[in-house]
Amino acid sequence: MKLSHVVESQQFTVPLLMELFARTRQMEKVAARGGTLDYQNRIMASLFYQPSTRTRFSFEAAMYRLGGRVLSTEQAGYFSSEVEGEQLEDTIRILGGYADVIVIRHTQAGGAKRAAEVSKVPVINAGDGNGGQHPTQALLDLYTIYRERPIEGLSIAFIGELDRGRTARSLAYLLSKFERVKIYFVSPTEMQMKPDILEHLDEHDVWYALESDAAKVLPEVDVVYQTRIRPERLTDRGSHGRYTIDATVLTTMKRDALILHPLPRTVEIDKAVDADPRALYFRQANNGLFVRMALLTMLWDE
Ligand code: CP
Repeated sequence: MKLSHVVESQQFTVPLLMELFARTRQMEKVAARGGTLDYQNRIMASLFYQPSTRTRFSFEAAMYRLGGRVLSTEQAGYFSSEVEGEQLEDTIRILGGYADVIVIRHTQAGGAKRAAEVSKVPVINAGDGNGGQHPTQALLDLYTIYRERPIEGLSIAFIGELDRGRTARSLAYLLSKFERVKIYFVSPTEMQMKPDILEHLDEHDVWYALESDAAKVLPEVDVVYQTRIRPERLTDRGSHGRYTIDATVLTTMKRDALILHPLPRTVEIDKAVDADPRALYFRQANNGLFVRMALLTMLWDE
């Protein structure tokens, strides 16, 4: 199946995910030998309206490892003609004449969809708005799990500010495609996962539960998907410790659990956790390079 744009996780079928993951395994080897020149005539435009470390750098590194070149702005709101009032659609039409793919991180949910609707080259959503999506993050998250164990039958806890969590939203959509997955959404009530995701899970007969107490859920799950929690957003500011993983919490978790986090982290994972073999978040970020290399080639090949 040919992908034209990557805007939301719902676009991916299980066979397409398996094709991407097989290609990602190849890209791990390509990157290990320094890269390839197979895509040396390709140009990627990275258009970021919000800050990024992992997504922008890994996309740009992916492009270089494929032999291609990069046009980039990391503060598009200041260093593009948006400052002069130019509309996103016009910016995309222009960049489509210069580049073979546009990777966009936008301030508004739906920004990437708007871009894709007018673009003559593939558009990749690198995160849009609060409560939008971040599909390539979800792809690398799922790949990280897939490298460790079967996804069918998995139990997973999403923890943190889930109402604004575009990574959690995108990963929930992907998980809904697999059999017998159990999802716990663990969050203060005021930050719980939004109804659109819950409705999607209902429609696809996916088991889920809403929880506010991480201690009840952590001993039960195969995967902990920790996300940001900002104390200043909590009604009870001192309660963020109830959603933090530290050395004590580790003792309550399964011995073979996987701990993921899209990063960046602040208070929600103590540094003492980093040395634990269950902590996969740095490997997860590294997998972003391989998944994004694979995704770029899938957009262009065929
Ligand atoms: N996970 C993620 O999107 O990180 P960045 O904001 O650094 O790209």
